[in-house]
Amino acid sequence: CGIVGYVGSQSALEVVMAGLKRLEYRGYDSAGVAVLADGGLAAAKKAGKLLNLEKELVERPLPTGSTGIGHTRWATHGGPTDANAHPHLDNAGRVAVVHNGIIENFASLRAELAERGHDLASETDTEVVAHLLAEEFSSCADLAEAMRLVCRRLEGAFTLVAAHADEPDLVVGARRNSPLVVGVGEGEAFLASDVAAFIAHTRSAVELGQDQVVELRRDGVTVTGFDGRPAQVRSYHVDWDASAAEKGGYASFMLKEIAEQPKAVADTLLGRIDASGSLTLDELRIPPGVLREVDKVVIVACGTAFHAGLIAKYAIEHWTRIPCEVELASEFRYRDPILDPQTLVVAISQSGETMDTLMALRHAREQGSRVLAICNTNGSTIPRESDAVLYTHAGPEVAVASTKAFLTQLVACYLVALYLGQVRGTKWGDEIQDVIRDLSRISGAVEQVLHTMEPVRELARSLADQDTVLFLGRHVGYPVALEGALKLKELAYMHAEGFAAGELKHGPIALVEEGLPVVVVVPSPRGRSVIHDKIVSNIQEIRARGARTVVIAEEGDEAVVPYADHLVRIPVTPTLLQPLVAAVPLQVFACELATARGNEVDQPRNLAKSVTVE
Ligand code: G6P
Repeated sequence: CGIVGYVGSQSALEVVMAGLKRLEYRGYDSAGVAVLADGGLAAAKKAGKLLNLEKELVERPLPTGSTGIGHTRWATHGGPTDANAHPHLDNAGRVAVVHNGIIENFASLRAELAERGHDLASETDTEVVAHLLAEEFSSCADLAEAMRLVCRRLEGAFTLVAAHADEPDLVVGARRNSPLVVGVGEGEAFLASDVAAFIAHTRSAVELGQDQVVELRRDGVTVTGFDGRPAQVRSYHVDWDASAAEKGGYASFMLKEIAEQPKAVADTLLGRIDASGSLTLDELRIPPGVLREVDKVVIVACGTAFHAGLIAKYAIEHWTRIPCEVELASEFRYRDPILDPQTLVVAISQSGETMDTLMALRHAREQGSRVLAICNTNGSTIPRESDAVLYTHAGPEVAVASTKAFLTQLVACYLVALYLGQVRGTKWGDEIQDVIRDLSRISGAVEQVLHTMEPVRELARSLADQDTVLFLGRHVGYPVALEGALKLKELAYMHAEGFAAGELKHGPIALVEEGLPVVVVVPSPRGRSVIHDKIVSNIQEIRARGARTVVIAEEGDEAVVPYADHLVRIPVTPTLLQPLVAAVPLQVFACELATARGNEVDQPRNLAKSVTVE
């Protein structure tokens, strides 16, 4: 789901199509564009990838104009067909609208429109908006005012962008609970779901708030609330490098992002550890006094970010002795969780737009809890609605399956845990100093893992015909196993499951049969050697039942050697930080296996990078 809008002097079609290409990573199953030209409006839309739309535009070219809108759709209401693709037009074909999100009261609006004689062609909630806009425009002849009037009648979460043939140099956007950013150039302006769509043209962006309408003209932008009152415009500079959104010689964005991890990890630490080895997180904006009062931490997140949260729990409880819960954001608010002002809620999100996470944090704030966001996308909704934010500095992550964002989320979680420990002066004071030192060197260890991945790739290719792969781990290795399984599901479309190794004997061991690949993440034999010994026994148990064991173990761990059919070495790392190195071979494994199966790794089927619906 991606949106692009343009007003300027370039060919709108070219700008919009290039923008949509940049947003492809968000996941979609149909695409469309509309341009205003020669006093009229022309549109084209096609199910499938942008390539289908490009072919359509060659067969049936649109006239050239300098105002246009475009959309990539991820189907919610109605399947991914040509008719359901956006833009949607009114019956006269004068207004075009594209939309992300869900309009919850669309059925009653649709019935109302049908009664007034409108002929609705698609099954989408969006078409209703085109018809409502046309009706309002016919009485006020002002597209922005028509948009405000329509938005006031809509329920749900949405981003809407529209153009009208009678206002040829104007694009209007509206936003409620869904992402939309504005780019301001010289004599041109842009609207998009994220800045990646326009960073090739301008670095100057404007934040759009909740329930606001923006008018895009060549000479600038005007923002008003849905109530018509002028809104304050806040500009910011986009410091992401345009080249960061290019593949730069790699076969896929995912491979590039895996390779960028040492830098991403280092960037996330940059400026946050001072010369004396203490943490300086002034940006948190939550006074140390308040952090000292925290009596519970609750982490909410989805997907890969949730796995980062599961790992963070081990670190937070160990270093701070504050109880920590981790919950899937989509479950959180519906079970009436116990929250109060002493609860610190940590919302982890790469995109900062995941609706489930946003709703969870809103619920937490309503209960009086403080919310700290860990986020990769500057100015996105989740950090803006939180009390504080710790940005991860992974740079733009384009591949749908998260890799470098995950590692930087882990780093940010460790920083939060250590900082809480630091301000509260826990008995782990010395250990905290040691960990901060270890953390500052960890990027080198990630780099080291990346240099030894050829055998992992070879192994992945040899397993391309398997139906199932299991992943086992203990302690922080358990969430790493869950993440390894998730990566394989997302990319290779294989049945993959992660288990706590100790839970094996309580059920999952029944799945083990001759030749079944089982990946085991082994904790360090130093320190917590009890869990190490236990997992070595688990490896023996599954091997005795015919499993083909793929063992991920620290250099120098000789105890695993006799039971490993395949051994993947990772550098010696403190136990709690091990996920930063142990997750990397699992990412490489899933990416290579998916490629061997002929899958498109950057845009796996049915998935979206940023899920802005609940
Ligand atoms: C989607 C993506 C996942 C991601 C999850 C959470 O499901 O496909 O890769 O982990 O959303 O996204 P967020 O942007 O909140 O981290």
